[in-house]
Amino acid sequence: MAAWNGTGFPKRTQVVIIGGGPAGLLLGQLLHRSGIEAVLLERRSRDYVLGRIRAGVLESGTVDVLRRAGVGTRLDAEGIPHDGCYLSFANRGFRIDFFALAGRRVTVYGQTEITADLYGARELSGDTTIHNVENVVLEDFDSESPHVTFAPDGSGTRHRIDCDFIAGCDGFHGVSRKSFPRGTIREFERVYPFGWLGVLSETPPVNEELIYANHERGFALCSMRNPNLSRYYIQVGQGERLEDWPDTRFWDELRRRIPVSAAEALITGPSIEKSIAPLRSFVAEPMRRGRLFLAGDAAHIVPPTGAKGLNLAVSDVHYLHDALAGHYGGDSSALDRYSPRALDRVWMAVRFSWWMTNTLHRYPDQTVFDQRMQETELAHLDISEAAKRSMAENYTGLPY
Ligand code: APR
Ligand code: PHB
Repeated sequence: MAAWNGTGFPKRTQVVIIGGGPAGLLLGQLLHRSGIEAVLLERRSRDYVLGRIRAGVLESGTVDVLRRAGVGTRLDAEGIPHDGCYLSFANRGFRIDFFALAGRRVTVYGQTEITADLYGARELSGDTTIHNVENVVLEDFDSESPHVTFAPDGSGTRHRIDCDFIAGCDGFHGVSRKSFPRGTIREFERVYPFGWLGVLSETPPVNEELIYANHERGFALCSMRNPNLSRYYIQVGQGERLEDWPDTRFWDELRRRIPVSAAEALITGPSIEKSIAPLRSFVAEPMRRGRLFLAGDAAHIVPPTGAKGLNLAVSDVHYLHDALAGHYGGDSSALDRYSPRALDRVWMAVRFSWWMTNTLHRYPDQTVFDQRMQETELAHLDISEAAKRSMAENYTGLPY
């Protein structure tokens, strides 16, 4: 158990995890199963974290890691296996058969559910989670004895936790990446000139498999969470405001962009969640400074088109757990392997997500030549088994 300082907060632990999203929670769970103790600090309340709606397509490797972490039971019972998906353009559609081409499938299971399963497991583990922390500061991670200080919600005092390692799992806007000394981290970024307007509705999905649609009015995606919960997205311009998108306008626009057969079958209903998300590719490297390690969105962002965000967080955490367990098991080089191993896989997913985004979206300055190139890229995918296999391998997840 963690050493306590009489304030209600631990004084020392092995690993301090910053951030209680999927990356931080999964790391805590894998470490717990290896007998390594971690205290988790989260800026938001538990209810807030559990209420966030995020993506929901899991690579087969992600499912394996979640099972190994001991949180596979509900996922295996309720997750929906998908052996393929549809791509459409110029009002024709074709299917990519993941299983036939790559020998792997994906599983549709909401990130919100994964987070709930991981919080449940964390409660059982007995490891400490502190919510509503403010002003987290990471210190001395260039030395052998780092520590983290923070202010608990509403109290003026600061608390300090000493540790062996700090895991920065605090997302893109977190404090961990910003704590790297100036000049020790390099950032690569592309901001796309559009966003995704997403709607969740308690209606049956329009199709059994996902439909990714390239359309002259902009990209559209038909996805789902379960047999009575659908998730749809349409590409919108950068400055669009939610209040300008009542449900009827959203459904009308979606119908225009998807194949006619799907538009005719679409069942609409009131939205139970609606949001606009910007699209960005971002990588920070290296993902380690001394005894501070970054994982998940803290180190990289991909546009959602390739469904890779959560999957990358899981592969980072898999490698980070390996590195920390290796270190505590006496392998002195384990920690050095983390950043290069994680980044190799990150860049592959960044490439795939960028390719999917470029192939499927309408750019504001798109010329007729660019448009033909996009359509020919999709036509090539339609006729070429090799091209389809490449897409299937990347979508279902490159091996760890
Ligand atoms: N101190 C403590 N916690 C923080 C801080 C901070 N300074 N800053 C951010 N956090 C918390 C956030 O409130 C959030 O709960 O860190 C958590 C980060 O979680 P995510 O943003 O979900 O990132 P990650 O766990 O890496 O998951 C990646 O989630 O965001 C999606 O698209 C992303 O699917 C991907 C996956
Ligand atoms: C989703 O269901 O939210 C989803 C699915 C596939 C994507 C992105 C989001 O590529």
